[in-house]
Amino acid sequence: MEVIKKWALITGALGGIGQALVKEYVNKGFSVIATDIKQPVGSVENVEFIELDLAELARSDEYTKSFYRRVQQFTQGQSICVLVNNAAVQTLAHSSKLDRKQWQSSFDVNLTAPFFLSQLFLDDLAKNSGSIVNISSIHATQTKKEFVAYATTKAALSSMTRNMALDLGDKVRVNAIEPAAIATEMLKAGFEGKEDKYSQLEAYHPIGRIGTPEEIAKLAVFLSSDDAGFVQGACISASGGIRGCLSDPD
Ligand SMILES: NC(=O)c1ccc[n+]([C@@H]2O[C@H](COP(=O)([O-])OP(=O)(O)OC[C@H]3O[C@@H](n4cnc5c(N)ncnc54)[C@H](O)[C@@H]3O)[C@@H](O)[C@H]2O)c1
Repeated sequence: MEVIKKWALITGALGGIGQALVKEYVNKGFSVIATDIKQPVGSVENVEFIELDLAELARSDEYTKSFYRRVQQFTQGQSICVLVNNAAVQTLAHSSKLDRKQWQSSFDVNLTAPFFLSQLFLDDLAKNSGSIVNISSIHATQTKKEFVAYATTKAALSSMTRNMALDLGDKVRVNAIEPAAIATEMLKAGFEGKEDKYSQLEAYHPIGRIGTPEEIAKLAVFLSSDDAGFVQGACISASGGIRGCLSDPD
């Protein structure tokens, strides 16, 4: 007898937030198709890994179709219930210096790929009254110097979320999370030896700390669950309150 599984497909699955997403969806009883441009070390129960370059997917219909066929092999023809567009690149450069390659690769990975990946799985998601969760960023609305490429892609990803919701109506829910700083291993490593700066960053947040990958993962699971059945086209801030802060001197 065929075993019906709940499949979630997650991009950037080997990154800081991606690993927490994979763990949380598995904990909630999903089987996960984990994708990344890098290769994983070892394997995990209920997780199937597929190597996927989103920049290539953004450019090539053929690559996109062949990725779909690989997913179908793993799911044995079953349709996915959840797509989490999590992978992104963060290219920092001043507006006077950013080159075309940096601009294009930021858009390919952070925006074009999430759109065409969503399009690729729309029929499958609709079959399961499924859901898309886009991991956007606080940079969609509040940003810093030299973030022009990253912030513009994230603003567009949030806009794409609101717009797709109109097309998808009652077929597939699509929502976004806009996290502020999240304590991934990489972020923490960047503050090694600079504990005072890390404490300062924490103190900037009204809640007194920065977020954890697990908190983002739990929010994603909630948004893709039936409990969030009326949440459609929303861009949910997860910022510890920093979203509302004005940094003018007192
Ligand atoms: N960490 C934070 O503070 C923070 C804050 C706000 C938003 N976000 C967003 O959360 C998401 C995850 O961020 P993270 O901190 O885990 O980053 P990360 O760099 O740890 O993970 C990103 C993953 O995406 C993969 N990736 C990069 N280019 C790819 C490509 N061409 N094809 C396929 N995969 C590719 C990387 O290999 C990596 O595993 C991103 O969308 C990021 O913009 C992160």
